[in-house]
Amino acid sequence: MATIIGLISQKGGVGKSTLARAVAREAAANGLKVKLADLDTQQGTSSNWHRRRLEAGVEPMFSVEAFKTAAQALRVSPEYDCLVLDGPARASAATLEIARQASIVVQPTGASVDDLHPAVLTFHELVREGVPVARLAFALCKIGTDAEEAEARAYIAQAGFHTLGGFIPERPAYRQAQNQGFTITETRFAQLNRRADELLQSIVERVDG
Ligand SMILES: Nc1ncnc2c1ncn2[C@@H]1O[C@H](COP(=O)(O)OP(=O)(O)OP(=O)(O)O)[C@@H](O)[C@H]1O
Ligand SMILES: [Mg+2]
Repeated sequence: MATIIGLISQKGGVGKSTLARAVAREAAANGLKVKLADLDTQQGTSSNWHRRRLEAGVEPMFSVEAFKTAAQALRVSPEYDCLVLDGPARASAATLEIARQASIVVQPTGASVDDLHPAVLTFHELVREGVPVARLAFALCKIGTDAEEAEARAYIAQAGFHTLGGFIPERPAYRQAQNQGFTITETRFAQLNRRADELLQSIVERVDG
């Protein structure tokens, strides 16, 4: 039975694909058989990124495939140790489908109330639909300062949800890495890689715990 990690969000551009690739890369580096399912067939962001990774010959390599629906992706899960679902923004049906099946549902969010408010509403909606709150976790992405991180954590705790340990600061180097087929744990900067690793580690711990 594959571990299924779902990345969802209400807002677009928050970091779903960024985290999905890094999670998949981490699993592959640990010798797991992993599939990254790109559920945004309109954009195909992760599929296009995978092409760049292949062309650059970056190791470890892993399989990325576009699927129209989460159900179609889930059908291949018995063949894998780990299935990472990179969801589309704002798609409530797909989001619910992902949330129902995933071992953990990670929602990346920025630190502004404009980002946090709709993100919290999305998790409340999933809870109303019967998804256990323990399976839901926020990942702080594109964060400016430690103070901003602390405020965002407090906001999320107030709403009754879990925030993963660590956070991803906003840095051009993360974009540049992904432009070239790398993940946010494979940048040219050891400190940025460690930061990203820390967040990934807390996803792993949450799944295992
Ligand atoms: N920590 C960061 N610092 C700087 N740029 C970032 C960071 N995280 C992500 N980005 C950039 O922000 C953009 C959006 O990120 P990403 O594609 O991961 O979001 P998404 O939630 O998957 O978006 P969509 O809703 O369109 O699928 C990308 O250009 C990505 O390279
Ligand atoms: Mg995306």
